[in-house]
Formats: sequence, C-alpha cells, structure tokens
Amino acid sequence: MNLKSVYETIETLKAEIQTVSTKEDLEQFRLKYLVRKGIVQQMFEGLKTAAPEERPLLGKALNELRQTAQRLFDEKKSQLEQVQTASKGGIDLTIPGRRRPIGTKHPITQALDDMTDIFKAMGFAVALGPEIEDDFHNFEALNFPPDHPARDMQDTFFLDETALLRTHTSPVQIRVMMNQKPPIRHIMPGRVYRNEAISARSYCMFHQLEGLAVDENITFAELKGTLATFAKKFFGSNVRYVFRPSFFPFTEPSAEMDISCFLCNGKGCRVCKQSGWLEILGCGMVDPNVFKAVGYDPEEVTGYAFGMGIDRTALLLYGIDDIRMLYENDTRLLNQFT
Ligand code: DAH
Repeated sequence: MNLKSVYETIETLKAEIQTVSTKEDLEQFRLKYLVRKGIVQQMFEGLKTAAPEERPLLGKALNELRQTAQRLFDEKKSQLEQVQTASKGGIDLTIPGRRRPIGTKHPITQALDDMTDIFKAMGFAVALGPEIEDDFHNFEALNFPPDHPARDMQDTFFLDETALLRTHTSPVQIRVMMNQKPPIRHIMPGRVYRNEAISARSYCMFHQLEGLAVDENITFAELKGTLATFAKKFFGSNVRYVFRPSFFPFTEPSAEMDISCFLCNGKGCRVCKQSGWLEILGCGMVDPNVFKAVGYDPEEVTGYAFGMGIDRTALLLYGIDDIRMLYENDTRLLNQFT
C-alpha cells in the first residue's frame, strides 16, 4: 500500500458508485468498502507498517479515502430514497418527460390566417356564415336570375328542396347586411362546395375569402387601393397587378384581378401558362339589386365586394402539385409545414 494506490482507490470508488442503481447495489458497495473488514479499513491497517516519514502524507490520503467513501455512500443513499418516495403510487417523478410532437397549421389555415391578419390591419372584421344555405342567400338576394346556370344541379349540391351547400362565400355578405346597418367592412372566410369532377386542379370542396365594404361614398378607387395593398403585403411588395372587366350578377361594374406570376415574376412559365399573370379574385361595386334585397337604399349607400379562392393560390405558394393532397391528411405533407 502506498500513496498512489490510495488515490487510485478513491478513483475506483467514484467510478463504482456510478454503477449503483438499486438498494442492493448500494449494500454491496457498503460491504465492500465501509465495514470493519472492508477495503478502506484494510488500507488503514497498512499505515502501521509504513515507513515513519511516509505516514503523515499517507494518513492524510487515507482520511480522504474514508471521507470520500462515506460521502458517496450517503449521497447515493438519499438519492435512492428520493426515487422511492417519488414512485409511491406508481408515479415516478424522476422519469424524463415524453416529448410531444408539435402540431402544425394546415397550409390552407396558414394562408387564410395570413390573409385575415392583413385585412384586420386595414380595419376589416371577420364574419362567418353557415355552410348549409338556402336559395335566397346563395342566389336570389345576390341577383342571380331564376334560370342562371350556376343554380344547375351540375354545380350545386342540393340537400333537399330548399337546402343546399353554399357554392361561394358571397351569401355571408347577405347575412352581414341583414344583421347590421352600414358602415360595414368585413371579410368572410370559409369552405364552399361545388359538384365538379375531381382532378388535380379541382375538388368538390374548397375555400374562399369574401370581402365587403358598405358606406356612404365608397368608390371603386377604394376597392383598388385595398386589394392592391393586400396583394403587396401577401405576395410581396414588387408584385404587379391588373384589373380586367368581368361580370358577376351581384356586382356592377365587375372586375377580376390578376397579379404578376410570383413563380416566374411575370416572365411566363408553366404555372401561369406563359402569360406572366395569375388570376386571384373577382370583385366589383355592389349591385343596387343586392342592396334592395337586404333592405338598404342604393341611393344612400355604395359598396364594394370581392371574393378569392384560397386553395389554388396556396398550391402555387407552397409548390403542391395536386389539390387532392390538401385533403388527404397525409402527415408526410403536413409535416413539411412545421
Ligand atoms: N362569388 C364569386 C365566385 O364564387 C367570387 C366573387 C366575385 C365574389 C366577385 C365577390 C365579387 O364578392 O364581388 O366565383
């Protein structure tokens, strides 16, 4: 026994205490080192035969050995006792927590949330309406003539004589106007349904975001300014846009808004069919007949409305090839949006 072997034993002790994980292990440790016949005491015996000049240093080292052994034992003992109290009643509070995977927003929800935030910042409130509608809200009040082809069985899912699945979010305009007086500045996001052949480009259900502003002296210039601001915030500040004349029964005049293709920046690509432009929405000034249907006086108020499809835009934005992928709930797709 010499100084070196005492210090080596201290290191061995430290390594060995790491392997102790049960009360039984700890008892083995105690029997090996801490009892009268144990290693520590044995080494103390060696002090008697050591050379006198070595004794002071050796004695100091041996004391350190004894203290270390006792300290390691005490620490481990209280550690094991804590585990035991914690696991009473079957709950082990020392087990590390399980990681819960963090969910993600569906790309459509994400796109709608982003759009909603932009309009909210411009003073629009959000309104929702039912997905099951009737002919009055979905067509009649929106100035669709009784024989308009959009009412055809091929487009509309009828539930019975009077109920149908809304084919657009425009009926929410009617509900908002019948529920309150101007001024109105609302956006109306939601699901819509059409009985179309399902393909990579179209699905029987999709999403729209509707907008409506009604007040005295609302002009087409305000409509343009609002939509241009939206387009620059959502698609990027260097996006270009054009308003083309169009027709909708519930607006007069009507227009469609195209933006410069954000994939090729207007140069022409497969997605914009080489035109450099993408159609993103329909809009116009609210038709006087619509105001009459909801009991507003078209001589007193004017307004604008717009409606855009979300799904195709989201497909382009996120580079998804097939609209059906949005509704398969395949986590391999959804996980890419964390
Ligand atoms: N409802 C129309 C559609 O589904 C979109 C639309 C066009 C809404 C013009 C509007 C609008 O509010 O002013 O195709």
